Amino acid sequence: KIQADAPPKDRMKSILNTLIGLFKVATSQAFPAIVDPPCPVSVSTKGGDYQFNGALPIVGLLKAQGVKMAPREIANQIVAQLPEVKNKLVDKVEVAGPGFVNIYLKRSFIEEQVNHILKFGVRPPQNPDGRKRVVVDFSSPNVAKEMHVGHLRSTIIGDSTANLMDFLGHDVLRLNHIGDWGTQFGMLIAHLKDRFPDFVTNSPPIGDLQAFYKESKKRFDEDPEFKKRAYEAVVKLQSHDEVHLKGWNQICDVSREEFQKVYARLNVKNLQERGESFYQDRMNDIVKFLTDKSLLEEDDGRKIMFGNSCPLPLTVVKSDGGYTYDTSDMAALYQRINEEKADWIIYLTDAGQATHFQAIFDCARKAGILTPQTRVDHVGFGVVLGEDKKKFKTRSGETVRLVDLLDEGLKRALDKLTEKEREKSLTPEELRLAQNSIAYGCIKYADLSHNRNHEYVFSFDKMLEDKGNTAVYMLYAYTRICSIGRAANLSAQDVAQARSTETVSLEHEKELKLGKLLTRFPEIILKIADELFLHTLCEFMYEVATTFTEFYDACYCVEKDKATGQVVKVNMGRIMLCDATAQILAKCFEILGLQPVQKM
Ligand code: ARG
Repeated sequence: KIQADAPPKDRMKSILNTLIGLFKVATSQAFPAIVDPPCPVSVSTKGGDYQFNGALPIVGLLKAQGVKMAPREIANQIVAQLPEVKNKLVDKVEVAGPGFVNIYLKRSFIEEQVNHILKFGVRPPQNPDGRKRVVVDFSSPNVAKEMHVGHLRSTIIGDSTANLMDFLGHDVLRLNHIGDWGTQFGMLIAHLKDRFPDFVTNSPPIGDLQAFYKESKKRFDEDPEFKKRAYEAVVKLQSHDEVHLKGWNQICDVSREEFQKVYARLNVKNLQERGESFYQDRMNDIVKFLTDKSLLEEDDGRKIMFGNSCPLPLTVVKSDGGYTYDTSDMAALYQRINEEKADWIIYLTDAGQATHFQAIFDCARKAGILTPQTRVDHVGFGVVLGEDKKKFKTRSGETVRLVDLLDEGLKRALDKLTEKEREKSLTPEELRLAQNSIAYGCIKYADLSHNRNHEYVFSFDKMLEDKGNTAVYMLYAYTRICSIGRAANLSAQDVAQARSTETVSLEHEKELKLGKLLTRFPEIILKIADELFLHTLCEFMYEVATTFTEFYDACYCVEKDKATGQVVKVNMGRIMLCDATAQILAKCFEILGLQPVQKM
């Protein structure tokens, strides 16, 4: 793992951050009276590569100090202070319009960055905030209940988020906060005792746990005698009676096996199960902690807690003395901060839980558990809809089983490949790899490429389209780029070797355009790490793919004799630009959890 303080060769430069730094210094020198001047720099859509827009806000700040100055004049004074670093990175600047500064980058600097990729690979950006302990709480299905498409979204977005944090060199802990504790286990265990009386000695063949759940729920609702036994079972379980613990474990195992199937297929690794049951004792502790601080109020037999800003209270203890989802999340937050030493905790659930997390964070701040040292984010996402824009269900109105959904993805991916007659050009093994790549890739990418705040329509037809920003388009674009070396009769080894001997020069306008885009990778990564919107990465990838096509259409890499098809000339520098592009895309795929293939 790369440390945050690793030498610069291990990290890539964020041009945006460098420019912000430059202009900060220049602005402070030009206007020493303004403390911590605003320094907005962004990618330019008109003149230059980047644009500095700091002159306008300074007008107001100066005015407040009784100084009147026009924005253009301010911009001129700032530009006059730009230090000599200008010579390495910035080719020229020009003051435009009402006081923007257009910044033109040096070609040699862009070339240097691209060659850095070839020499050292795609390295993480220099991370201004250093290395952090990051807890990512994701997937988190509930035992004996359906693992539904909402959990699929949480799994996909959470896994990518954790991958991104890994790439940045953070110390990442991936936690699966499964719902494995609570009163529903009373009825499940009572039902288990009736259905499989010898469950302690013989593993019960529960089979369909969802059906088992429904059966026990029905009895619980209809049979008062059963209900009574269910309550007794909860009490026994909570007092850690061996027989009841055994039953609980067996039920959890059945669920666990189902969850694992989904994780294995989606290639989700290092996800540590730490369900609600883990916090049993810690829930007692947190209740005591909050009681000692006099933060709990009686409310109709319940114990509740109000935060400072959130209107809704937490229910910390129910009237029957039991604990709730709120209690376990307070205990978990305390544990993660104090035992795991988390600097940053990220929760992935549907947007419907936003108020729950607001209340948790609010109360934890009030109780002094959460301080400004720890960053917490609830990363919410919209609901998954079917193609009819209604709640995602099977035709017969049932909840869609995730395993069935993944199976359908596999089938559709194979259809897609045979439609293109790929079975003729690929070996059976290559075909199988391509099928997997497309199936899981399209499900993940469709989710990740949309703004997660929006609701999301699940449609295999849409996700398998090969036009537009889809997995299929991106995966094909990647294989196409990878095949250019092969077209020049270069082996993968030849290409790898050339990375240390060849250099890229970006003479052609389209080469330069592509090079500039590739060098934006570090700033894109930092932006996503801050805002936690992964669709920004998909948009970047799509732009890379289309900009690559522009370059490839305009600049030959391999020249072949029209008649014989023989390779006449190979432009190695350009092959290296293709290689750098492929490496950037490969890193993006890795972060998103997609597995591209060399042939498709
Ligand atoms: N099990 C919950 C659900 O299915 C999600 C848990 C999310 N994590 C947490 N710490 N609350 O809705």
